[in-house]
Amino acid sequence: MSTTNQLGTALITGASTGIGATYADRLARRGYDLILVARNKPTLDKLAASLAAETGVRVQALPADLTAKADLDRVETVLRDDSSITLLVNNAGTATLAPFAKADIERLDQKIQLNIVAPTRLSRAALPGFLARNRGALVNISSVMSQMVQPGNSVYGATKAYLLHFSEVLALEVAASTVRVQANREKTPARFSAKPTDTRCASSRKSRSPISFASAPPTWVCTWGFMRARNSRPWPASAWR
Ligand SMILES: NC(=O)c1ccc[n+]([C@@H]2O[C@H](COP(=O)([O-])OP(=O)(O)OC[C@H]3O[C@@H](n4cnc5c(N)ncnc54)[C@H](OP(=O)(O)O)[C@@H]3O)[C@@H](O)[C@H]2O)c1
Repeated sequence: MSTTNQLGTALITGASTGIGATYADRLARRGYDLILVARNKPTLDKLAASLAAETGVRVQALPADLTAKADLDRVETVLRDDSSITLLVNNAGTATLAPFAKADIERLDQKIQLNIVAPTRLSRAALPGFLARNRGALVNISSVMSQMVQPGNSVYGATKAYLLHFSEVLALEVAASTVRVQANREKTPARFSAKPTDTRCASSRKSRSPISFASAPPTWVCTWGFMRARNSRPWPASAWR
């Protein structure tokens, strides 16, 4: 997507709902053009049309299942070829919280594909262009669950811990440039910590498992990311503000 926008284009995965849709809204209002990725095309199209109408930025829907190799390839190609992209938000991710020995291994495999393989490949596609242009920012949506060692949180927490470690190392590797890398692992305030009964995790709700975990409103997670970016210098104002 070519653009004359000075801030450039933000590509957001998992942009159709929740935290990804909140990032899309906030970034459009800051003036970024957008490329929105998720599986549900009608929802993406609707969001793209309403954000474009409300904010005047250019918004493209890019439907893709990031656990499907051909779809992931398409998004990687966009990140490699579109030099207007200045911000990648790796947000798409889902949780399966269940005792590991009882968990469905195929579902866990899908989580690993979505929460680890996709952001790794998309980051690898985007970063060389960011570095060559000395401009760009990468945000990986981790989770406070990355640091919660508790039954049921083996694979989900580990995928989010991967993103944390991955981002911290990438941040060091790009430190000599103006490119910036952030892991958003919002610290969920106590009032948002779910009890087992009000958890958003369908699997633990169904099984009435005594697993409690943090569930934050999307706006909180997004605001945490913006605040941290603003407070940690030097984030390039041109790429992130
Ligand atoms: N909720 C929390 O409290 C919380 C806290 C910290 C971190 N996080 C992390 O924040 C991220 C977003 O969480 P959320 O609560 O906002 O989730 P959500 O509301 O369930 O949204 C998930 C998004 O990912 C997309 N998605 C799911 N599977 C996909 C696939 N295979 N390929 C492409 N897109 C896919 C969904 O759209 P489609 O279904 O249309 O594909 C949707 O846009 C996740 O990485 C999560 O781990 C959440």
